[in-house]
Amino acid sequence: KYEKLWLIFGVSSLIVFLTVLGIGAFYKGMHPPSHLATIDPQNVEAHEAFKEENLGLRQLDEDKYIVSVIASAFNYNLGKDEDGASVNNIRIPVGSTVVFQVTTTDVVHGFQLAGTNVNMMVEPGYISSLETEFNKPGTYTLLCNEYCGTGHHYMAATVEVY
Ligand code: CUA
Repeated sequence: KYEKLWLIFGVSSLIVFLTVLGIGAFYKGMHPPSHLATIDPQNVEAHEAFKEENLGLRQLDEDKYIVSVIASAFNYNLGKDEDGASVNNIRIPVGSTVVFQVTTTDVVHGFQLAGTNVNMMVEPGYISSLETEFNKPGTYTLLCNEYCGTGHHYMAATVEVY
């Protein structure tokens, strides 16, 4: 009698396991694909997208933007504002489509925008890019989710959707 119970238990846990696996794969499939291109990590400024004047937010079209970022220990370089200060906050109108393109000059960094589907790994020698749409106003925190050294937890910036 107990054997039958155990058999039912075993089969049920197998079904639960497969369901969880299936749902996981489904949600992974919902993530926008991130795309990789190569770049010389010693000389990222030679690439058009990462020239000083092209860093940070640029408007491409009425509701389309591009954000170029150079990650390095322990900072996200989003360019400079009119006063020459480092930009640490980007403002994007709600409903915009934004392409993030990110590279690193040293080690592997993360690029995660908490509360959105933006989550990329940034590797030296590559440009990670991802397109997303911002439909919910709010302030989103950009953070590094790959341990990159002693200042890892200082790597942060904000994206304000208004
Ligand atoms: Cu960069 Cu952790």
